[in-house]
Amino acid sequence: MSDEKLMELALAAREGSYSPYSHFRVGAALLCADGSIYTGCNIENAAFTPGICAERTAIYKAVSEGKRDFQAIAIAGGPEGGEPALTAPCGVCRQVMREFCDPEEFRIILGAGTGEKQVYLLKELLPLSFGPDNLKGKEKYS
Ligand code: THU
Repeated sequence: MSDEKLMELALAAREGSYSPYSHFRVGAALLCADGSIYTGCNIENAAFTPGICAERTAIYKAVSEGKRDFQAIAIAGGPEGGEPALTAPCGVCRQVMREFCDPEEFRIILGAGTGEKQVYLLKELLPLSFGPDNLKGKEKYS
């Protein structure tokens, strides 16, 4: 699966965004190691705190179906009625990625409507992170 194709799926997932409060629409497409793909969008709530980001929607959909091994996520976000602009994942989503993904390997692809793309490793967006290994006494910093 190419980064371009994954980004197309993120853009399509953005169509499902429920964001009547921020009017900021985000879609994500998560590539699993077995080649399967899970998509997600942001889903907001009148009470605000129950809202969830597109990235976590995609990751939780995948985990809930037994997937634990992920290679990459494409993210497309931007204001309603406008073109997507490069949108980096929030800190909470980065930490959720850290739970399931190898910081040295997991790729985060940001896309804009212009076709511009930026690719980061999780370790670049979440340096010196705390993860499952810390609780097993096997600290692995990256
Ligand atoms: N949002 C995402 O879904 N992903 C991001 O990477 C950044 C922010 C959502 C949360 C909220 O619904 C809206 O965008 C504005 O913050």
